[in-house]
Amino acid sequence: MAALACAVAVWAREPVRSKKAMVVAQEPHAAEVGLEVLRNGGNAIDAAVAVGFALAVTLPSAGNLGGGGFLLVRFADGRTNFIDFRERAPIAAKRDMYLDASGNLTKDSTVGWRAAGIPGTVRGLELAHSKYGSKPWAELVEPSVKLAREGITVSYALSRSIRGSASLMGQFAESKRIFLNGGKHLEMDDRLVQSELASTLARIAKGGAKEFYEGETARILAEEMKKHGGLITRRDLKDYRAIERTPITGRYKGHEIITAPPPSSGGLGLLQMCGVLEGSGYEKAGAGSAAAIHFLAEAMRRYYADRSEHLADPGFFKVPVRGLLDPRYVSGVRQSIDPDRATPSSEIKAGKPGDYESADTTHFSIVDAQGNAVALTYTINGGYGNGVTVPRLGFLLNNEMDDFAAKPGFPNMFGLVQGEGNAIAPRKTPLSSMTPTIVTKDGKLYMVIGAPGGSRIITGVTQVLLNVIDHGMNMQDAIDAPRFHHQWQPDKLSLERGFSPDTVALLEKRGHQIDSIRAVAVVESILIDGGWLQGATDGRGAGKAAGY
Ligand code: DON
Repeated sequence: MAALACAVAVWAREPVRSKKAMVVAQEPHAAEVGLEVLRNGGNAIDAAVAVGFALAVTLPSAGNLGGGGFLLVRFADGRTNFIDFRERAPIAAKRDMYLDASGNLTKDSTVGWRAAGIPGTVRGLELAHSKYGSKPWAELVEPSVKLAREGITVSYALSRSIRGSASLMGQFAESKRIFLNGGKHLEMDDRLVQSELASTLARIAKGGAKEFYEGETARILAEEMKKHGGLITRRDLKDYRAIERTPITGRYKGHEIITAPPPSSGGLGLLQMCGVLEGSGYEKAGAGSAAAIHFLAEAMRRYYADRSEHLADPGFFKVPVRGLLDPRYVSGVRQSIDPDRATPSSEIKAGKPGDYESADTTHFSIVDAQGNAVALTYTINGGYGNGVTVPRLGFLLNNEMDDFAAKPGFPNMFGLVQGEGNAIAPRKTPLSSMTPTIVTKDGKLYMVIGAPGGSRIITGVTQVLLNVIDHGMNMQDAIDAPRFHHQWQPDKLSLERGFSPDTVALLEKRGHQIDSIRAVAVVESILIDGGWLQGATDGRGAGKAAGY
């Protein structure tokens, strides 16, 4: 026994434990900023605003002013809200704007000025703050001004991440000057000062979202857009609104799951997959077993087929939310799974649910001392977005337009094949996979979770949640366990490092085409259990859990 305990201690990482409050974010400075707000009596929304702005400085690959995202909040009294501050297509956007004369996809949906949707982050954070914040806005923006002005010490992770995007950012003068240090690469322990960003943030601290959407920032952004052939105008900025939506909810083994509605495809995916699993007995084979991986992978494959056809901006397209979660429909999906054989994706098409209704990213999870919780995922899409840092403003722009089906039926940068419903149209929101989620048990807060990772967010979040609920893992073990991903097309089961060769052989025997992958999402989450908060940051990133 002693030997076994010892062996476990060698590989297991304990979650960070605290009694009152916790912030888990993908970058340590930002987590500390959030913790400070909580210690000073700020609530979870206050901390989310401060962390959101801090990440715009300290995690430039994903934290942002030039992107958008989703904020899910659950208050201690059980009320919830979901704020959709995702980018929208500019008024001048056209369905075929990313096709060349022969109808082929160009790289314009991913690189350069034309790839950007209208940024929503500043409006979204302000909406959350104006409704629920308790500390003055300027006080929450101030730490990020300081980080930008005084600079941060470059970590190994930041240095490596910037190096990885050097060829993208090298194409744009301002990105090259700031993030590529004029060509002299930023090494670990160098300093990254962002003066223009500090000035932009200082103006936002003073003038709020109005400054960003109608003030000097808006004027400069629109001017630079025009100069470089981008589409976003002053009117696009002025008209931008964050949208409050009702979260979607479902149950899994006695837990209530509160999660992201369309235009996210994440919440529906999480709930449909949980529905397919519940009662199947898949978990009896054990965590990481070939039989359990197989069953879940088949559920993933089927959901992503549905996603390709039935999910899009609900303002433009009827998303069959109820139909996709209907117990009869879900049970049909479950029954179509052969526990011994992979169904080739070519044999799977999106289902026909009834009952139509109208209807590089980062995540942080926060719980405050009152028990309010925020799950916030926001993004500029690819790492360092479209590569463009706006001159005079100092922030990177998103390439979120690539989340649309720029050419329906053809894969986007995440390999997602998507249909007509998600084609480009003015003012439309591109479909997302972001899945900020809050789980309760017996009416009490139980888990706050979410992740970046493109199309793999949905499967990553689902697996971590299942590791806790089905396999009894603590928050850190649930995150550290190796993960896998299937998204229908391409027809391959992608495995992280850490599965045994025997397991892989058994999966191949069932007919899976195996592929290896570095990471299935980067999950940042909090579990509330037995009077303790367990904060866990994902070793696939370089974040921090900080509590008191
Ligand atoms: O909204 C989405 O689904 C994507 N724009 C998310 C991108 C992402 O997670 C990239 N980061 N790893």
